Amino acid sequence: MALSISGAEKESISEKLYVLGRREGKGGVLNIGRYYALDKSLGSNVYVDGAKPHVILICGKRGYGKSYTMGTFIEELSMMEQDIRKNIGVIVIDTLGIYWTSFFGNKKHEEMLERWGLFPSGIKIRLLSSPDNVEEYRKMGLPAEKFSLKTSEISPLQWCNLFGIRIVDSTGVAIARAINELEGKEYSIDDIIEQMANDDRSSNEAKGAGENFFKMASSWDVFDKKGMPLDEIVRAGETTVVDISSYPEELKVIIVAVLARKIFESRVRERKNDEKDIIKGKSTGRRKFPLVWMAIDEAQIFLPPGKSVSKDVIINQWMRQGRQPGLSLLLATRRPSALDDEVLSHSDIIICHRLTAQGDIDALNRVRPTYMRGEIGEALKKVGMEKGVALIIDDNSESVHIIKVRPRMSWHGGEEPSAMVN
Ligand SMILES: Nc1ncnc2c1ncn2[C@@H]1O[C@H](COP(=O)(O)OP(=O)(O)OP(=O)(O)O)[C@@H](O)[C@H]1O
Ligand SMILES: [Mg+2]
Repeated sequence: MALSISGAEKESISEKLYVLGRREGKGGVLNIGRYYALDKSLGSNVYVDGAKPHVILICGKRGYGKSYTMGTFIEELSMMEQDIRKNIGVIVIDTLGIYWTSFFGNKKHEEMLERWGLFPSGIKIRLLSSPDNVEEYRKMGLPAEKFSLKTSEISPLQWCNLFGIRIVDSTGVAIARAINELEGKEYSIDDIIEQMANDDRSSNEAKGAGENFFKMASSWDVFDKKGMPLDEIVRAGETTVVDISSYPEELKVIIVAVLARKIFESRVRERKNDEKDIIKGKSTGRRKFPLVWMAIDEAQIFLPPGKSVSKDVIINQWMRQGRQPGLSLLLATRRPSALDDEVLSHSDIIICHRLTAQGDIDALNRVRPTYMRGEIGEALKKVGMEKGVALIIDDNSESVHIIKVRPRMSWHGGEEPSAMVN
């Protein structure tokens, strides 16, 4: 809770206080709320480590605070001490278009904030989205830019996934052949269509279907010959919200797969360079690609139990190998049972708001750590029905707590509309 406590206080806090997510070290703490007692009274502040890589999973049934909690984490990350924050880039994958509101202070809940010793305050974000959204954001005075992906970074398999066809179908084969011919060049969607048209081996039917698919892809206005460079998407010390709400689900999955892979590759390269610097005993003064926190709401879209191109990257690269290059994930889902089992086992911190579906409770029980005495279902009863209250299981300190997530200082978007307008 950077703004309500001074830097010096924060230093001493992390020295004497217990920080979830780590066993030692100072600084870089995220104050996400307070401990919550059975009589509903609030205890001391809850701190979570923000300086080291983590996989944090937030779950819970509809409307009990997942997106809100994710927003609190994003606020805390943006308010970390400058000497730590300057090494971290935060990217928020906004599937519903609700995080732009964080730019504004939470004036709606001024009184509640005051009870917590806080005040309304927006956070500095940069928005990347479709041209229509960018226009709307700019009208509201928000810093927004058009998001684009480099056409040549999409593999034949990813195009086929995007179009819902199989790579072994005649259209899939025609697409793969055209892309393979163009390999090594920078190309546009029109170049792919032209390449397909010139292919004598594909049938007219396959070429026609391929052309229709690429025309549809072109209408989304997201693929570009050059594409947005990664260092404009993720920047050290900044929070970028990539609003992909206006794209079809298949495209959302491809965008996340491509971004996640590029970030992973850049971080692996960066880590190698860092180590070279350390061995040589001097810094080359390069502009560095930062450690990354990626927040993904509605994570079940990207991490399903079945086949998925985004899951491949996130699980194989970010979760299995992400600690060393310094990659952190903040995931939220309504349905933990709709996630690949590996997601639960890789999450070192699980925050669970009210949850009642037996299938979801069973999914959490399957990864229930031995240091947790009872069943998850029993522990969740203590969470009750209050919004923002959650069970937190920290695998680093091997401890379990009930907490109340602090109110948002920035405006929470995505509140359900009511038909009873007053
Ligand atoms: N920590 C909190 N303090 C105060 N109010 C909260 C807190 N968490 C959630 N709320 C209230 O609960 C509402 C619903 O929260 P949120 O939008 O995060 O739900 P959700 O779990 O993401 O739901 P969905 O599954 O529909 O996305 C918020 O609009 C807010 O009014
Ligand atoms: Mg939500």
